[in-house]
Amino acid sequence: MPANTLMINGKDVEVLQGESLLDACTKIGINIPTACHDSRLEAYGGCRTCLVDLDGAPRPVPACKTFTSPGMKVETSGVVLDTVRTTVDEMLACSSRAAIETWTDANRFIGYDPAQCIMCDRCVRYCDEIMQCNALEHVGQGSEAFIQPTQGESFLDTSCELCGGCVGTCPTEALYSKQSLEVFDKQSGEAPTTTRTVCNYCGVGCIIDIETQGNTVIDIDAQTGVGPNDGHLCSKGRFAWQFINHPDRLTSPLIRNYDNGELEETSWENALAVAAQKLSAVKQQYGADGIAFLASSRCTNEDVYALQKLARSVIGTNSVHSCAAT
Ligand code: SF4
Ligand code: SF4
Ligand code: SF4
Ligand code: FES
Repeated sequence: MPANTLMINGKDVEVLQGESLLDACTKIGINIPTACHDSRLEAYGGCRTCLVDLDGAPRPVPACKTFTSPGMKVETSGVVLDTVRTTVDEMLACSSRAAIETWTDANRFIGYDPAQCIMCDRCVRYCDEIMQCNALEHVGQGSEAFIQPTQGESFLDTSCELCGGCVGTCPTEALYSKQSLEVFDKQSGEAPTTTRTVCNYCGVGCIIDIETQGNTVIDIDAQTGVGPNDGHLCSKGRFAWQFINHPDRLTSPLIRNYDNGELEETSWENALAVAAQKLSAVKQQYGADGIAFLASSRCTNEDVYALQKLARSVIGTNSVHSCAAT
């Protein structure tokens, strides 16, 4: 692809045709603030947070929506530009939408707080361009504007797939995860920790960031530009995590009592001894391939690794499978 040479803050920069001024600035390490921009979406130019001075242009131009051409001369800071940017930021922050009473939705995962919304339309565009669901719409104008499920229906009555991509792209948390809000303990003062790992629900291998507070999972998100998923997740990867700290989870092993058919609690020592004895008996009678191991996608990646090691190295069978492999 042919390249364009332009000048940014007095430095020559070479960029590919089709790249924006924002791309060019990022390439040489200049951080331009953005709000409505998401690199996975079509350039929008709606918020004016990313204004830069372009030689010959009558007023500052949005860097995310202005495409490069040879010989452009750009300045990314200056007294006038800084003043204009401050005014734009104030206009975005100063919204009377706090007074708007909007929808509360029956869905369990996504909530909306109009007071936080800067009407950047990232959520609507994500839903249209990436998901092609058209399940969100921008209603009204100015300070009366807000976002709602299309036609004002519940998300559950739209074509929404509850992927949560609209929540992921929202720059202000106006769209938020209801589950996270429920479990995040503000009073504790404990800052969340982020652990990057791989979603184990299926074989796509999406890279996820698990947020924890102490031993409690409080959210799962994904970062743009990271892994094969580029910040996208499906509903399982993003929202199906409450089982991890669910009070109904078993905390001790159970053995079935064949006299009454009931599962009864036992110690780990006994459970392991019984499992070893039964597996040895089956192996002796039918051989190693008489045994197969099935792992749940709700096990951790480490648990699944340990299970296949047990199957192959201890029992001697390759008959091992996980429902995550589908
Ligand atoms: S959850 Fe996904 S499908 Fe539903 S509104 Fe948000 S982006 Fe659209
Ligand atoms: S909900 Fe978030 S992404 Fe959607 S318009 Fe408001 S601020 Fe932007
Ligand atoms: S279950 Fe969803 S989020 Fe997880 S790896 Fe598969 S597609 Fe990605
Ligand atoms: S980020 Fe460029 S106009 Fe919004």
